[in-house]
Amino acid sequence: MPHTIVIFGASGDLTKRKLIPALFRLWMKRRLPEETKILGVSRTEFSHDAWRTLLRESTSEFAGKDFEEQEWASFAKSIFYLQGDIEEPNDFERMASLLDEIEGGSGSTRVYYLSTLPRLYATAIANLGAAGLADETNGPRRIVIEKPFGHDAASAEQLNKDVHLVFAEKQIYRIDHYLGKETVQNLFVLRFANSIFEPIWNRHYIDHVQITVAEDLTVGRRGGYYESSGILRDMFQNHILQLMMITAMEAPARYDADLVRDEKAKVLQAVRPITAKMVEQDSVRGQYDGYLNEPGVAPDSRTATFAALKLHVDNWRWSSVPFYLRSGKAMSCRTTQIVIQFREPPQMLFTDSANHGLGANQLVIQVQPAEGIQLHFNTKVPDAGMKLRMTDLDFSFQREFANALPDAYQRLLLDVLNGDASLFARSDEVELSWGIIDPVLKAWHNSAEPNLEIYPEAMWGPECAMQWMRDQGREWFDVCPVLE
Ligand code: BG6
Repeated sequence: MPHTIVIFGASGDLTKRKLIPALFRLWMKRRLPEETKILGVSRTEFSHDAWRTLLRESTSEFAGKDFEEQEWASFAKSIFYLQGDIEEPNDFERMASLLDEIEGGSGSTRVYYLSTLPRLYATAIANLGAAGLADETNGPRRIVIEKPFGHDAASAEQLNKDVHLVFAEKQIYRIDHYLGKETVQNLFVLRFANSIFEPIWNRHYIDHVQITVAEDLTVGRRGGYYESSGILRDMFQNHILQLMMITAMEAPARYDADLVRDEKAKVLQAVRPITAKMVEQDSVRGQYDGYLNEPGVAPDSRTATFAALKLHVDNWRWSSVPFYLRSGKAMSCRTTQIVIQFREPPQMLFTDSANHGLGANQLVIQVQPAEGIQLHFNTKVPDAGMKLRMTDLDFSFQREFANALPDAYQRLLLDVLNGDASLFARSDEVELSWGIIDPVLKAWHNSAEPNLEIYPEAMWGPECAMQWMRDQGREWFDVCPVLE
């Protein structure tokens, strides 16, 4: 059966930077289902050939040395273009005829990919429905929705209602590209394909968990978007809470899309409801120095480009184990890491003064860019009495496996084509995560506390974030990954 991917927002950045290069790589690896066609839709006028030529240039740029001219020539034959306006129902009728023509009128699996302005999502969905394009009589029909899924809890709920009027939940794929990262999928494997971690993965052995997504880049040209988003909507509601869910969830009975997502949703259900008072104590916010000069940013903007949040997961496994979530732009380096900080030994036998302040064990899961896992533990320094030092067992994907890690979109696009929704957010996950972020956004909006502290670029965020951690007797794991 032919497969067709319809990309709305075909002339946008995501299409040329990520979607087409990912599809092209899958094609070169012979992983795309046979007879996969791609139809780009946007308002700009292009012929099929003009669009193919444009994509050839961008793909050779973004696919880098992997680009092969001959492969592209045969791949490009499956690419088509339609000039169309999402707000124009007639254009969906034209799309339906073109799709029939491309697919030869037989049954097909169709994937509609919304990579357009979020304010157009509901209209696109309604018009797909009205043109009969969601009807599954002639094969599966799936819709992929890019982030942001809503702007707050109410709009996310409304968007879920709008999409459910046309598509059943099993047809809906809410994308979070973090779930397509190999190291994030490896978190499931680390936890559920090994037996040594499970007995210690709980409040009896773990002091706290830190999840950091630091970026060294500033917002650059994305100031306009960032002003309406800020760090909480941009990184916490989706990527960071996804990392937290996988770190904290129980093992599902089987690796099945709904069973996995049931367990993830239960983590968010257990997060202690956030009050305005808690936000004052349990959150920190900052803005990098220079943000106000970025294009598209208001001169008196109070948008946070850094945040740290302490969440409590009130269940049997995690009671009294705080989860510290942190993300920021313009930080010391680019690193995404999950640190499982274990408890100190109950009694220290080696009281040599040189051992003062020795740390407790840590499991550091490096999500990117130095993908790997390190287990930190104390070791005796040879020939130095009973002096101890922290050392580590170090696993690196790059050292262990010859092939480079694929871009997240390859895996996710393939999963949609194959109808596997395990790595996509379900409606309840999205609504629950907004339920956590919304009260923080509201409290920040209504109160001067916590203070929005300006931090210099290329640091680990504002000083108040370090002090906040020290006041709790803890320390951030501020180590830039070593790239080999
Ligand atoms: C996006 C955010 O979702 O994720 C960006 O909108 C951020 O602001 C990006 O830079 C980070 O993704 P990655 O894969 O580079 O860590």
